[in-house]
Amino acid sequence: MTTPAAEAGAHGRPPVTAALAAELAQQRFGLTGEITELGSQQDRNFLVDDAAGRVVLKIFNVATDASAIHDQVGAMTALAAAGVEAPSPVPAADGSLVGTVTLEGADHRVVALRFVEGEQLVDEHHLPTDVVTGLAELVARSTLALATVTPAAARTSMWDLQHGRDVVLDLSRAVPEDERERLLAVTEAAWARVEAVADRLPRQLIHGDVTDDNVVVRPDAGGRPAVVGVIDFGDVVESWRIGEVAVTVTAMLHHDLDDLGVLRAMVRVFADRLDLTADERAVLWPLVQLRAAVLVAAGRHQAAIDPENVYATTRMAHEWRCFEVAAGLDADAMAALFGDAPAAPTPVSPLLSLRAADGSLPVPVSFAPESDDVATDLLLRTDSEAAALDAALARATLVLVPQGAPRVTGARPASRPDAQLSQPLAAESVSRGGHELLTLVDATVLAVDDSTLHVAVQGEDGVEHRVEVACVQPSPDCRVGEVVPAGESLGRATPVEDVADAVPGAATSRHHLRLRVLPAGCATDLPWACADDVAPGYSALVAATDPALGLPVAAPLDEDEADAREQARRNAFLPDNTERYYRRPPQFVRGRRSHLIDSRGRAYLDLVNNVAAIGHSHPALEQAVSRALSMLNTNSRFLYRQLADFSERLLATTGSDAYDSVVLVNSGTEAVDLALRMAQVATGRRQVVTHAEGYHGWSMAADAVTTSAYDNPHALDSRPDWVSLTDVPNGYRGRYRGEDAGARYAADLGGVLDGLVSADRAPAAVIMESILGNSGGVVPAAGYSTAMQDQARRVGALTIADEVQVGYGRTGESFWAFQAEGTTPDIVVCAKAMGNGVPLGAVITRKEISDALGREGTFFSTTGGSPMACAAGLAVLDVLEREGLRENALEVGTHLRRRVEALAERHPLIARVHGRGLYQGIELVTDRETLAPAAAETAAVCEALLHRGVIDQATSERQNVLKVKPPLTLTHAEADFFVDALDDVLSRKWY
Ligand SMILES: Cc1ncc(COP(=O)(O)O)c(C=O)c1O
Repeated sequence: MTTPAAEAGAHGRPPVTAALAAELAQQRFGLTGEITELGSQQDRNFLVDDAAGRVVLKIFNVATDASAIHDQVGAMTALAAAGVEAPSPVPAADGSLVGTVTLEGADHRVVALRFVEGEQLVDEHHLPTDVVTGLAELVARSTLALATVTPAAARTSMWDLQHGRDVVLDLSRAVPEDERERLLAVTEAAWARVEAVADRLPRQLIHGDVTDDNVVVRPDAGGRPAVVGVIDFGDVVESWRIGEVAVTVTAMLHHDLDDLGVLRAMVRVFADRLDLTADERAVLWPLVQLRAAVLVAAGRHQAAIDPENVYATTRMAHEWRCFEVAAGLDADAMAALFGDAPAAPTPVSPLLSLRAADGSLPVPVSFAPESDDVATDLLLRTDSEAAALDAALARATLVLVPQGAPRVTGARPASRPDAQLSQPLAAESVSRGGHELLTLVDATVLAVDDSTLHVAVQGEDGVEHRVEVACVQPSPDCRVGEVVPAGESLGRATPVEDVADAVPGAATSRHHLRLRVLPAGCATDLPWACADDVAPGYSALVAATDPALGLPVAAPLDEDEADAREQARRNAFLPDNTERYYRRPPQFVRGRRSHLIDSRGRAYLDLVNNVAAIGHSHPALEQAVSRALSMLNTNSRFLYRQLADFSERLLATTGSDAYDSVVLVNSGTEAVDLALRMAQVATGRRQVVTHAEGYHGWSMAADAVTTSAYDNPHALDSRPDWVSLTDVPNGYRGRYRGEDAGARYAADLGGVLDGLVSADRAPAAVIMESILGNSGGVVPAAGYSTAMQDQARRVGALTIADEVQVGYGRTGESFWAFQAEGTTPDIVVCAKAMGNGVPLGAVITRKEISDALGREGTFFSTTGGSPMACAAGLAVLDVLEREGLRENALEVGTHLRRRVEALAERHPLIARVHGRGLYQGIELVTDRETLAPAAAETAAVCEALLHRGVIDQATSERQNVLKVKPPLTLTHAEADFFVDALDDVLSRKWY
């Protein structure tokens, strides 16, 4: 009997050398030029670099007949007509499109096809979401186009998934023993699902191999990879339409995807464009499993019969990886993820109850991301879960963690979001002294062993459910087939020795029991928790446990939709010009030290939020603020101690008697605004000189001195008449570079100042950020800051240092960035880190300057310097000192800088690391000679970093600098995590 694989063509490649191919190309098609062999499983493909364009000479294996080739040509033509690029046949000298060549006595068909210029996806490890969905769009279009072609003849292809099972059975002999059993088991299970609906699956001509090997990609206008065409029509066949989709989906699985949610996005594209039937969606994942199994079996087989076929042997790792991913995900869960599986029936009445040894009932405890049951200081620890349970057990004898919501205790620091198993697929009960699980209805025992139990129960509505219990010591009455009557015990929770460091003195032994309700007949090897990207699929299978225990049903939440809803809500009322980060932003619900945590319970390392200098949600700040609010809420017209306490501490940070006055306000903008007014009133002058590329705030005055063209493209031509401009002293990419850049910029400033004096507009002040934040964290060209100060003093102007971003220990060497620059500004403005999120800003200056304000009436800010704001300010300063965060900024910042500088040796995109301490800017350029800014690449890197668990954003006028301004709590390990993620992203061609 011929096997399907043999019949369908599991053959060695035709015996064609490059020399013979060159001869054929020349004689048949008049093609000349350099000839290179391309990979193929079973045919021979040669690329001929002909002067009129590149052409692929294809010599088919012996089993390919003329009607098959007719279909291939028909398919190419249909695709080209639908705007999908495809090879076009080159006529031979005699006008025919398909020829025959006899090799070692056997006839082989031969064609020459115009090469579709572009690249393949296969060797690009990371595939960004937009590339994958772009591929799905192309496949959908090509599938619609192929539906218009009438197949010439029925033919059998071993790649046609209709024969998938037989091919695996035939070829799996070449698969090593340890892999074969699993391969066959997965194949049989998948096939059973496919076979059940096979007759109902829509059929048409399909390409059969639209994979990462066979699609052509070229950069679009924005430099992003766009999937434009399809090549290799050797597997064209009339078959199941959904098989086409399954082949493409399978090919994605060996790649590093942003997360598996992208598969859902792909299927949405197919479902919309192709109007997939319910049957098609239901068998998609089984077909993916089958395709992966065929790839493994065929790859091993080919390597065995043709060991020199490097193409086949190098693909084996990819094929096995596809199989691992496909086999590792449950077909029902994937069907649910793709939007087509019956939801597990929800029990309408309680079926089970839990009781502690002392008779007490369980107290529900929530580990949901926003739950107060998980204290902030328990987050992001390896023992978070144990610690949160211990904390709960300090309040109750028996606790029950419901199944419904994601668990924030699964969040892990410095870790990829899709590796954090935040979605529980079971409810869990925990006690100190032991507890029992009772059934409230008659329960038939289905399976039992030492630690697991399965029973069948029926609710009031007559619907039968299967209850799976783990970590249980089953009752002696639990024997398969027996009925445990209502009210009786099914088993006891198992003691677990599990030490949490979090709660001092907590006993270390807890009793645990895990349980979930499944639909009757459901598979029982589902995991107990899963990552958020596949959670909508898995949780649809087991969504009914909470009501079975008498808890309210947690409404199944589709987090993708929830995020989109939240975004739409915000967009509805925010002005369009409000900045927003990320194409699909996570929704953040809490933070802890250097991490933010989203509504799905996933943690991200935060490299951007410089406001949270002492870390997110610091308990010392929370306590100080809440104590202050509980004590006194008034304003600075009244006498209270905190105003002086904080102001004195703030002055002390300057370490200089040049400052003796502080005015507290609510923000950086207010501080800048007030500083400008003070300078004008104190000098009796109006003109202010500001630097190009600066950002100082949004009020009328702060905006007037803001020159950033990124924030306002018209900035430079729309400044009011009291503002004059001088160049930004950027010695890296500015007008002046090299050693004397600082002096030359200062000389230019001198010219501006002199010009103003001679125009009778002598300046009141010169304002600058001590490190040029908006230029990308650039330290001013050497010598500029002191020379600027000299120049200003020469004409009687005051200097204003904007330390809103860069002050407060961030730069490591000194508390204020101006100190490292060797200057003593007349006025210092600060905000952001001062309150670590509590609105707080300050102007620090000399009393003679601040007193001058009196000439313009009184000054008052209602909440500026309130008791609460001062308490926050004091708490932040305490923590900075106590935890040595300035020193940490220096140490970890230096480490991070060294590591990124080392990366620059391997990644030409990284041009320079600017800044100091933990205020850095990683500048990316496409050309180190011209310094052409890599803005598109920077944006793409930020998106790619998000999927790797790092929050970063672009800065500078040119949007080509990666911000590095994390909480000052950043650890060495976290810095390494970021640099490794950046290395990984930059090692990819597309990100
Ligand atoms: C350098 C600088 N100055 C002033 C401000 C304005 O501060 P705020 O947003 O607190 O008003 C900012 C804000 O980003 C800033 O970066």
